[in-house]
Amino acid sequence: ADPSKLVRRPPVVTIMGHVDHGKTTLLDSLRNTRVVDSEFGGITQHIGAFSVVLPSSKDRVTFLDTPGHAAFTAMRARGADSTDIVVLVVAADDGVMEQTVESIRMAKEANVPIIVAINKIDKPKADVDYTRKMLLTQGIELEEFGGDIQSVPISALKGTNLKTLIEAIALQAEIMDLKAEPTGYMEGVVIESKTDPGRGKLSTALVQRGTLRKGCILVAGTAWAKVRAMFDDTGRPLTEAPPATPVEILGWRELPSAGDEIIEVESERVAQEVLKYRMDKQREEKLENAKEVI
Ligand code: GTP
Ligand code: NA
Ligand code: MG
Repeated sequence: ADPSKLVRRPPVVTIMGHVDHGKTTLLDSLRNTRVVDSEFGGITQHIGAFSVVLPSSKDRVTFLDTPGHAAFTAMRARGADSTDIVVLVVAADDGVMEQTVESIRMAKEANVPIIVAINKIDKPKADVDYTRKMLLTQGIELEEFGGDIQSVPISALKGTNLKTLIEAIALQAEIMDLKAEPTGYMEGVVIESKTDPGRGKLSTALVQRGTLRKGCILVAGTAWAKVRAMFDDTGRPLTEAPPATPVEILGWRELPSAGDEIIEVESERVAQEVLKYRMDKQREEKLENAKEVI
């Protein structure tokens, strides 16, 4: 990448944590915050990723709307390192549990920085200090103990301190100095994909570099598309989507798979060549595997 062409981009965040600690509730609250703040009155659709903008600072954060390990693992397994920051949700009335530890291990292995959301502080049994100490025993060195990991006490249910959480994420992103090239061929990753009875084959994607436009020719796995239309996470039609934008893409000829890398190519002919190459390779691999069994 040409460093002179790089521009700042929003962070992409995955939410992880133990069962019932409030991942889905947090995503819902963040999503609602966003909808209320948005000037666009469209119907919010579930597209697997969404952006939150703080009106005060204009800080933008993109959340992958599939909480948990599965999404994170699937993305990484396919080499699509789409997560910049993990928000680790820990319920303050429950503390560090098995999947909290598992999440910490995965984030550390992937070298993805963690921000802790200490959740359910509205509950009478919530103990924020004790939760922080438990985290320390798991190698989470919080600022409170002289480390550099931020933690924000929140109530996902009541919407308490969500703005502070987003500010913490924005601060972490600033430290990371996240950049992307908005020019050149687009690259991205498929977040979800499905066939809609009315609109046909569509996918949610995250643009990672370049800018996606109508008419772009895309290849993902063994699927290809000529982009017919694009929508943002509020259902608003888009003419272009820069890096870190979650976008719904219409125009797929086949359905790509979640986690597939998307690349823009120069023409339909090139797309067909790439597909043919990939399918030949798949066939060869199948054959090799079959031989191994014998
Ligand atoms: P899994 O997806 O099953 O792992 O759970 P989760 O982490 O997504 O938790 P979820 O958001 O489903 O919340 C579990 C329960 O905790 C629900 O009954 C929520 O209403 C409740 N809950 C979540 N956040 C809060 C909170 O801030 N305060 C209180 N009092 N309850 C909460
Ligand atoms: Na749950
Ligand atoms: Mg959930």
